[in-house]
Amino acid sequence: MEIKPSGFYEILSPRCTVLISTVDKDGKSNAAPFSFVTPVSSNPPLLLFAATPQRHTLANVRETGDFVLNIMREELLEQLWVCSRAFPKGVSEIEEAGLTERKSKKVKSPSIEECAGWIECRLEFEKEAGDHILVVGRVVHAECKDEFMEGKEFNVSKAKPVMHIGGRRFIAAERLVRVKGSD
Ligand SMILES: Cc1cc2nc3c(=O)[nH]c(=O)nc-3n(C[C@H](O)[C@H](O)[C@H](O)COP(=O)(O)O)c2cc1C
Repeated sequence: MEIKPSGFYEILSPRCTVLISTVDKDGKSNAAPFSFVTPVSSNPPLLLFAATPQRHTLANVRETGDFVLNIMREELLEQLWVCSRAFPKGVSEIEEAGLTERKSKKVKSPSIEECAGWIECRLEFEKEAGDHILVVGRVVHAECKDEFMEGKEFNVSKAKPVMHIGGRRFIAAERLVRVKGSD
């Protein structure tokens, strides 16, 4: 079946989905789900997310210069959905969703306590791309709850990170598969 080019990301699925938390210049926090998210460099450590121009997340990043990627868990799916609603600027989706703010280590934006881990970023640059703005951030601190780490490996089966397919459809990733061999 042919898929409309504008809907290509339906089969580029499931996509890693995070809650991005930010704060505005008056100290009001904000959180929203994003699935147009990817690492782009490990040295220096850079990642990007793509936001449409009207997102409060984007406005806050421009105002304060930082943001946090909060690693999602299946248990937080209903809260994620609340965060995706269009609240007026200045209303904290973190509060509306009944989530808890946690002070970040290196940035002004808060983290979300209930998430599995946190990637704190400072804005490196932004670039217009089609109908989205690419926001490239430099990772200045990354942390995962001990209960979701096994040595140096992220325990996906425990954390069950939620990934987006489209609309209300998600996958909770939990089955680890390894390539055979030892090299
Ligand atoms: C699972 C999911 C993934 C989303 N991914 C994106 C995305 O990558 N980029 C984007 O601009 N909006 C995305 N959205 C929409 C925003 O989360 C939504 O419009 C939100 O209200 C924006 O909040 P803000 O204005 O406080 O930033 C997504 C929504 C959902 C439910």
